[in-house]
Amino acid sequence: MNMELNGMVEMEEKYEMYKTIQKVKDHVANLVMEQLDRIEHMKQELDFIDYTNLKKIIIGIIPGDGIGPEITKHAHMILEFLLEEEIKSGAIELREIEGLTIEERAKVMKAIPDDVLVELKKCHVLLKGPTMTPRKGDKWPNIESANVAMRRYLDLFANVRPVRVPHLGIDWMFFRENTEGAYVLGSKGINVTEDLALDFTAVTKQGSERIIRAGFEYAKKNRIKKVSIVTKANVIKTTDGMFLNIAERIAAEYPDIECDDWYVDIMTAKLIDPARQKQFRVIIAPNLYGDILTDQAGQIQGGVGTAGSANIGKRYAMFEAIHGTADKMIAEGRAKYADPSSIIKAAALLLSHIELNIKAQKLEMALDICSTYEKRLKVTGRSTGVTGEDFAKYIMETLKDPKLEEKWKKYQE
Ligand code: IPM
Ligand code: MG
Repeated sequence: MNMELNGMVEMEEKYEMYKTIQKVKDHVANLVMEQLDRIEHMKQELDFIDYTNLKKIIIGIIPGDGIGPEITKHAHMILEFLLEEEIKSGAIELREIEGLTIEERAKVMKAIPDDVLVELKKCHVLLKGPTMTPRKGDKWPNIESANVAMRRYLDLFANVRPVRVPHLGIDWMFFRENTEGAYVLGSKGINVTEDLALDFTAVTKQGSERIIRAGFEYAKKNRIKKVSIVTKANVIKTTDGMFLNIAERIAAEYPDIECDDWYVDIMTAKLIDPARQKQFRVIIAPNLYGDILTDQAGQIQGGVGTAGSANIGKRYAMFEAIHGTADKMIAEGRAKYADPSSIIKAAALLLSHIELNIKAQKLEMALDICSTYEKRLKVTGRSTGVTGEDFAKYIMETLKDPKLEEKWKKYQE
């Protein structure tokens, strides 16, 4: 009798295990199908859009959550000023896009509500304030990050993040892969049992090639002689290994550019090593390492609030502040003291991306003067500093100065 019972229990356990394995198999099969489908799309993608050929460029502005609406407002004002002529002649339209807020996203349980996505796709380039990413334990449902979703839906595969600290000789351009790695499957992990959770990461040949090539092409175009690749291919052998192999193959096509490779752990150390940090110029990394390194780099530059970020694809491009929604500032009533530098820097990247290089340079110079050199006003995030609005006005004044370039050049001596 007992033996019979034992046998039944054993069978039941086996059946449970079988069901669990089937569940995981189905899950993985779906992921594989999705990724193979994505690869097919990548194979068919067209070349980069040519903005100089467009009758009208539509710039969508997305306020976002938390301090987003506050800082985005200032960047909007600066763009309106810089693009006055183009807006008047109809060559450029600034269009505010509503509905990409955490409240709206939670309502429809989507990272980007469908109607918002339709609006986004009518634009050519986007300027985006930070959007709130729900995480475990907060009051929001577990929806995917709007950033990550937008990068994927609009196929913004290159996350380009410049970091410059002139007095330390730092001039870095990060090319972070933006649509793959741990992120592409980041919200598609599986709780296999109560005791076992699995996450996945994916790297593709097409996805790696396009980001690595973008980094090398940037170096070539700007006569930069050094590119560094970051992986952890000694441990994450399959996916990082593939990324590194492809990088080595592409590097061979650019014999004039010196290419080295670093594991991400030692790279985090070398970025703060005074003897080394000057030598890095273009840094190419898979998604997650690029995410981490660019926050560190932003901090070296003066805080993540000072860094801007470009998300570039062949058809669309989105420019954003590198930091989050700063909910603590909202809770403490400090939104008006939020630093708009990062989103204004993103606006400068946007201008240069649509080939308005002179305007972009002017804005960069004004930002340099206000944030790094002259520093007549300072934002501290609190009432100890000026408000974001005052700082934006300071940038505006500096921009209007007919001697802007002269002034900037003096600081370079
Ligand atoms: C960034 C951010 C995002 C990311 C978050 C908000 C999902 O940290 O843009 O670097 O991890 O990519
Ligand atoms: Mg980040």
